[in-house]
Amino acid sequence: MDFNVTSGTPEKQRTACLVIGVFEPRRLTAAGKTLNSAAGGHLAAILRRGDLEGKCGQTLLLHNVPGIHAERVLLVGCGREKELDEGKFRSIAASAAQRLDESGANEAVSYLSELPVGDRDLRWKVRQQLESTEDALYVFDRLRSEKEKKRRPLKKLTLAIEERTALAEARRGLAEGAAIAAGVRSARELGNLPGNICTPDYLARQAKSLARRSTRIDVRVLEERGMQRLGMGALLSVARGSRQPAKLIILEYRGGRKNARPVALVGKGVTFDSGGISLKPGQAMDEMKFDMCGAAAVLGTFEAVLDMQLPINLVGIIPATENLPDGQASKPGDVVTSMSGQTIEILNTDAEGRLILCDALTYAGRFKPDTVIDVATLTGACVIALGSHAAGLLANDQDLASELLDAGSYAADRAWQMPLWEDYQQQLDSNFADMANIGGREAGTITAACFLSRFTKDYRWAHLDIAGVAWKHGKEKGATGRPVPLLTQYLLDRCSKKTKKRG
Ligand code: BES
Ligand code: MN
Ligand code: ZN
Repeated sequence: MDFNVTSGTPEKQRTACLVIGVFEPRRLTAAGKTLNSAAGGHLAAILRRGDLEGKCGQTLLLHNVPGIHAERVLLVGCGREKELDEGKFRSIAASAAQRLDESGANEAVSYLSELPVGDRDLRWKVRQQLESTEDALYVFDRLRSEKEKKRRPLKKLTLAIEERTALAEARRGLAEGAAIAAGVRSARELGNLPGNICTPDYLARQAKSLARRSTRIDVRVLEERGMQRLGMGALLSVARGSRQPAKLIILEYRGGRKNARPVALVGKGVTFDSGGISLKPGQAMDEMKFDMCGAAAVLGTFEAVLDMQLPINLVGIIPATENLPDGQASKPGDVVTSMSGQTIEILNTDAEGRLILCDALTYAGRFKPDTVIDVATLTGACVIALGSHAAGLLANDQDLASELLDAGSYAADRAWQMPLWEDYQQQLDSNFADMANIGGREAGTITAACFLSRFTKDYRWAHLDIAGVAWKHGKEKGATGRPVPLLTQYLLDRCSKKTKKRG
């Protein structure tokens, strides 16, 4: 999709379709009123007849509106003006995109940027329209033998703004939105691929092809032999049950000063999680192909950062493996030695995420990172605690936690913090090793983070449990690309030096 910004009044736009907001009950927005005057009261008359109440997401497509240059006008309900918030704005933009895509107009000019959304600025509104539009029109069809071809799909969306002077700000929103949307799209695409295609090796090849796009980024892939040499006994213990060799994918992006300490992103890349010998029940087990969505988010964020050429140094570390049962697989009760030297009693082979992450986190220390953030579909307990709206956030540094919460809220990709108190650590006590890999039924998300915290003592660290947000179930089953927007926003904020305070 092609996006653009322009200024100018609606009645003068020569376009296949104008997009105009309508508040409930039947109230035109400013651009709508201007258009209505030019059209001799045509829009107001239609609203008076009761064809569109203005409920959030409602749409009405008009043809042959008199006195204007556009071929069509799409009215989009925005709900009550006072109740308009970030989430509604995104769903309004998504409804408009979907309706446009079916309308026959392959291009349109939208006036939705004029809607007031709290104190969100134009840059935010442009960006969110772009992201919501791409999100709404995404289809995963690469594994279908016949692709559904739309006759005239929407190809170009121009976002109109009131003042010419705001064009620069709008263009900035456009560039950021495009970078984030591209990152989200790649993450969704990777997440949606099945386990027989998206293997650890596939992820490695994906990372390598990203590296070919720019000289600023290097990718190395460590094989099992290399992991053995480094003593990554925890990571390797998960790979034992699989015929697919595990890979440790390492990305380095150099956009900052040569000796500036990097941010490291660590993503869980379990390309299929059967549970191993502690086999999962069959129901919805197919969804465990999404257990590499942390890895996909790291790759998607790299793509966005590369696209924007952000002035930072960034390291990505992706431990990639399957978790399957086999004669060679790890068994409950097995004790393994992690790269850190700490020993782990594997009481449940289904708690494999923390086993691969702990070695990746120890490895991250080699880069002398300023900050490390790991991203993982780590616990079912997180889905129980927060549902599908917020990622779980735990950190050993409150400033970092607050920055991530802020970034998520601005990017409409929220996280919610949980405590990482010492009190929970004892749940990991083991009679046979330094620690067990599970902490019992209570506070499962927290004890998983407690486990990881034992490997992150040397740096500022945060953990994002994305088990609830990384994919959707049911009819809409599919990867979401979260938390690419959150992570990218955090990095953007770091670059703008956190001088400005946002609401
Ligand atoms: N990948 C799963 C977590 C998961 C489960 C994410 C369901 C989304 C939906 C992870 O590897 C896992 O199996 N965790 C176990 C941990 C338990 C054995 C301590 C879980 O959450 O049940
Ligand atoms: Mn598991
Ligand atoms: Zn898992």
